[in-house]
Amino acid sequence: MNMIICKDANAVGKTTAQEIAQLITGQGKCVLGLATGSTPIPCYNELVRMHKDEGLDFSHVTTFNLDEYLGLKPTHEQSYRYFMNQHLFDGINIELCNTFVPDGVGGDPRQCAGVYEDQIRALGPIHLQILGIGNNGHIGFNEPGSSLASRTRVVTLTEQTIRDNSRFFSSMEEVPKFALTMGIGTILEAERVILLATGAGKADAVAAAIEGPLTASCPASALQLHRNPIFIIDEQAASKLERKEYYIHAQDAMASLISS
Ligand code: F6R
Repeated sequence: MNMIICKDANAVGKTTAQEIAQLITGQGKCVLGLATGSTPIPCYNELVRMHKDEGLDFSHVTTFNLDEYLGLKPTHEQSYRYFMNQHLFDGINIELCNTFVPDGVGGDPRQCAGVYEDQIRALGPIHLQILGIGNNGHIGFNEPGSSLASRTRVVTLTEQTIRDNSRFFSSMEEVPKFALTMGIGTILEAERVILLATGAGKADAVAAAIEGPLTASCPASALQLHRNPIFIIDEQAASKLERKEYYIHAQDAMASLISS
């Protein structure tokens, strides 16, 4: 697996933004899969900066977000649509009609999930999917126990995820208990996948995803099946990897091979 171990969360953000910038400048139509949460914020800040200072062009880019809470309107400050507008879309020249987030208030949620999956199929493939990782190893809102072949669907959030996400709400009771999420099977169909992780709190989940067994108990371990996954993580998130020294050596060796 390709691993880039960076000094800190800001370096993770900058490195990821460079990967995205390289992709979107190098091709015509481009489809990105995006995540919310604290981890990708430095990357989105850097993309906004690159747009403003360097003219990075998003006019040909389509995006699909991983997930959305059920029952939160796009205008709700904790909805993932609101998050994306605030942290990325309002700061770049993307057409809002080309930005897709699952519809958490659109009527029958199972139907909304099916519509989203169809939209990905119609406008995809996703060229590059950005992922974060939950403390429990979830990707998107695919909680432990999710089928590794799952598609976009309605899911029940675990107590741990509700607890983790309650920091953004005024009380635990306000955190939605359900969400719509791309499935693990949907995610695995992206041409490239980059998983971001920062901070010591993610070290166990990262080690389980990369070096543990392939298991539904750690949804991120499904990336072991992907043909082109990259892990861009900081030193703290990498601290429990048994083969960390090898990954750093491989990263340096590959860089010198490419530059020679
Ligand atoms: C959000 C998402 C989640 C987060 C994960 C980590 O769209 O898909 O899987 O990536 O919960 O969240 P943070 O980055 O806040 O630690």
